[in-house]
Amino acid sequence: MNTIFKTFPAIFLPVCILSLAACNHKAKNTPTTSTMTDSSTTVTLPPSSGFEKTIDGKKAHFYILKNKSGVQASLTNYGAHLISLAVPDKTGKLIDVVIGFADIEGYKKAMSAYYGATIGRYGNRIAKGHFILEGHSYDLFINNKPNTLHGGEKGFNDVMWDAQQINDQTIAFTYLSKDMEEGYPGNLNCKVTYELTDDNAIKISYEATTDKTTVVNLTNHSYFNLNGVGSGSILNHVVQLKAAGYTPVDTTLIPTGQIAPVAGTPFDFLKPATIGSRIEANDEQLKNGKGYDHNFVLDKHDITAPVATVIGDKSGIKLEIFTTEPGLQFYSGNFMAGGNTMLGGKADDHRTGFAMETQHFPDSPNKPQFPSTVLKPGDVYKTVTIYKFSVEK
Ligand code: GLA
Repeated sequence: MNTIFKTFPAIFLPVCILSLAACNHKAKNTPTTSTMTDSSTTVTLPPSSGFEKTIDGKKAHFYILKNKSGVQASLTNYGAHLISLAVPDKTGKLIDVVIGFADIEGYKKAMSAYYGATIGRYGNRIAKGHFILEGHSYDLFINNKPNTLHGGEKGFNDVMWDAQQINDQTIAFTYLSKDMEEGYPGNLNCKVTYELTDDNAIKISYEATTDKTTVVNLTNHSYFNLNGVGSGSILNHVVQLKAAGYTPVDTTLIPTGQIAPVAGTPFDFLKPATIGSRIEANDEQLKNGKGYDHNFVLDKHDITAPVATVIGDKSGIKLEIFTTEPGLQFYSGNFMAGGNTMLGGKADDHRTGFAMETQHFPDSPNKPQFPSTVLKPGDVYKTVTIYKFSVEK
């Protein structure tokens, strides 16, 4: 499952000035909310104090990445979450496009939505929390009845990672998932590196090694609203997915094992379409997912061309996704229900964010016909995903 990646040329886009101090290192423990400004707007960052906590006996911190043009991301080593990402819209105004919370309690409360989280050991569902590997039977915690979702009871989204800020634009998080943690075999050493590049992309690189044969499927669960967090529905965002097939699911969101053509269905995003144009269609798969909550089988995944493009209808902000992963879970925020207050003060209402989780396919440990998620001792799990932002002219 090793994958090779290339970087693509950087396009420098000057934007604005930050008023933040200490951008290049761990943020200072300031009780007040930090802001970054340009002539037209103010983007609110969470108070770093919301993240300076001791969790499970380890120190959580708040980190900021900043590129040469002033674009900025914030993160925490609690769950290796991406908290916010402010990028310029068509007028040059900085807009936070990633849903996040003001403090760790916000993440704990909204845990089942996995906002901005690093997901592991296994992204998405494993049927009935059970699989057989090299003749051994493994049972996981059933946290999404009747299945295991996103790692189990305490996934990588809810553990403390060690952080190493490498420079102003790069931070690495490491975590040792112990043998049989959540029922998975093998001590798994994981590393997730976030780099905010000068062409306004977040590049996420994943690495893992094991001492026993195991299964691994790491991803990031950021929810985007390209018109800005809290700006309302994402149904008018325009999506293009370079995927001629997808994996249909049963009513518990486990793939049936088939790869079905998207042609002639509401899953055809080969040509750009708004998220909302067919989401209410009378379609069994849309009913099973309560909207889009499906794995798309990417035509190509060699990171040289975008596999997905999404444009915010109001902001003009364009998100392009590049990945080495064979699949992409397009989730249209169907379970968002307004019960959480996002950074910026608005509620996380139904379908006010969408996720594009690059991954291996759900339930691969039980689907030998899907690309393998098995990692053996001596092999290195290595994947890369890039979320690149620009403005549609
Ligand atoms: C994934 C799943 C969804 C949902 C979200 C979190 O995307 O596929 O069904 O559980 O995570 O709410």
